[in-house]
Amino acid sequence: MSFLSMQGVGYTFPGWPPVVRGVDWEVGEGEFRCLVGRSGCGKTTLLKLAAGLLHPGEGHIRFRDRELATPGPDVGFVFQAPTLLEWHRVLENVLLPVSLQHRPTPAEIDKAHQLLAQLGLADRARHYPRQLSGGQQSRVALARALILEPSLMLLDEPFAALDAITREELQDDLLHMCRLRKTTVLFVTHDIAEAVYLGDRVAVMDAGRIVEEIQVDMARPRGPATRTSPAMSRHCAQVRHVMHMEAGYDRLSPNGGESVRPELVEGPQLVEGLREERA
Ligand SMILES: Nc1ncnc2c1ncn2[C@@H]1O[C@H](COP(=O)(O)OP(=O)(O)O)[C@@H](O)[C@H]1O
Ligand SMILES: [Mg+2]
Repeated sequence: MSFLSMQGVGYTFPGWPPVVRGVDWEVGEGEFRCLVGRSGCGKTTLLKLAAGLLHPGEGHIRFRDRELATPGPDVGFVFQAPTLLEWHRVLENVLLPVSLQHRPTPAEIDKAHQLLAQLGLADRARHYPRQLSGGQQSRVALARALILEPSLMLLDEPFAALDAITREELQDDLLHMCRLRKTTVLFVTHDIAEAVYLGDRVAVMDAGRIVEEIQVDMARPRGPATRTSPAMSRHCAQVRHVMHMEAGYDRLSPNGGESVRPELVEGPQLVEGLREERA
């Protein structure tokens, strides 16, 4: 039995066409699974369904053998923006999921310090978020998601706004932290190399469906040598190929294959903007 299991999952925002369609996805305990796809194909919606933040209109989602109801402490979520509370210090931000339940105990405060130390932020605990760089803020968001030791972590393009080198450091930090805790991870990105470097498998999503899942046969732990290895290039080419195959409907779409609804595309200016973002 899977740790997380989706069967025939569909989701429709009222009054719009379906954004997630017939998704079957089985995730085993301790696996690191990545989801790639063009902007607007339904990745965030699928992740919110996995978190229990949205409920499927069709099909079933089971988490640890139970129908998924509401988000619990067992699930950690990291968004694209670090979403830290500006008026709280770093330590208080990390402890926020605990503070929402009770006053943090000395052991929990110790744990927050430990997490910060593991993420290279030992001397930043008393700083405010605005005193940190983008990469440091993302690390705080990661520590906050890990404080309750969730068995499942859902990450939605968490490093998209970071420069290339910081991003690589954060990827390695994430791999290390999740490996230590045997956390199961669903990681959404539109960066093919990021998905291949991190994942045990990479699922490709298009227009609301998972169209293919590619097994990544690269040894762990992964590191600098992995990034430049022939296996890395080969897997990236494989994922890219699937994404291009699915782009067949480019020809039918007025906005060059972006699966954002045509109704939401107001004019040529926005169409250009979307193309640039993808380039
Ligand atoms: N609250 C909403 N109401 C209506 N449509 C939405 C809403 N949120 C997202 N969508 C639409 O659902 C589709 C999938 O969105 P999303 O899951 O955010 O895609 P992705 O994360 O892959 O970029 C898009 O066409 C988007 O415009
Ligand atoms: Mg998204």
